[in-house]
Amino acid sequence: MHFIPEALDDYVVEHSEKEPKLLQQLTRETYQKILQPRMLSGHYQGRILSILSKLIRPKNILEIGTYTGYSALCLAEGMTKDGQLHTIDINEELYDFQRKYFDLSDYSSQIHQHLGDATQIIPDLGVNFDLVFIDADKPNYPTYFDIIIDKMNPGGVILSDNVLWSGKVIQELKKDDISTEALLRYNKLLANDPRIETVLLPVRDGLTISRVL
Ligand SMILES: C[S@@+](CC[C@H](N)C(=O)[O-])C[C@H]1O[C@@H](n2cnc3c(N)ncnc32)[C@H](O)[C@@H]1O
Repeated sequence: MHFIPEALDDYVVEHSEKEPKLLQQLTRETYQKILQPRMLSGHYQGRILSILSKLIRPKNILEIGTYTGYSALCLAEGMTKDGQLHTIDINEELYDFQRKYFDLSDYSSQIHQHLGDATQIIPDLGVNFDLVFIDADKPNYPTYFDIIIDKMNPGGVILSDNVLWSGKVIQELKKDDISTEALLRYNKLLANDPRIETVLLPVRDGLTISRVL
């Protein structure tokens, strides 16, 4: 979905960083072989994740929702030399695809894959985080926030994707639409929680930046 006119969207992309070759290759192979390729962050949002990570310089990164590894590789670009990135996905069929691209990158030994339900895995991770990217099942977004907030280092940043949910957050809520209901609750929670400061950016499907105080 384009929240700004398509021509302006194209202009924005043309005047932003180019997409690295490895990520172009990953995108091509995702579209050829994997279901629902539109889930991948893609060129423009990927460059935003990369530059934010480079500004933050995180030592420990957590990603919830790896898919084929695109956003993990973007976030990894900004981590410190000794940085570690933990990424979680519930779909075991994606594991080897992700590993192939992590191994082709400069961050092979620094990216740790976790297979399973993120709500079960996160409480057992004995690490505190400087940067977290939430990009998995929408009904669990409020739970993800609750289980990561106490694992954030002061000044740490939580990025949340798809928070505008194709504009559904301002439409009448349909019965049984548990994703939109959860996102409405989540967006309110982020805007009001005194432990963080939050700005919702109308980037692609909505990307929220929350800084831990
Ligand atoms: C939108 S995709 C992630 C896209 C990826 N971050 C990117 O930008 O390239 C969402 C992923 O979340 C995973 N997922 C869904 N529910 C999950 C859960 N409870 N725990 C862990 N991963 C989950 C899905 O298998 C899917 O691969």
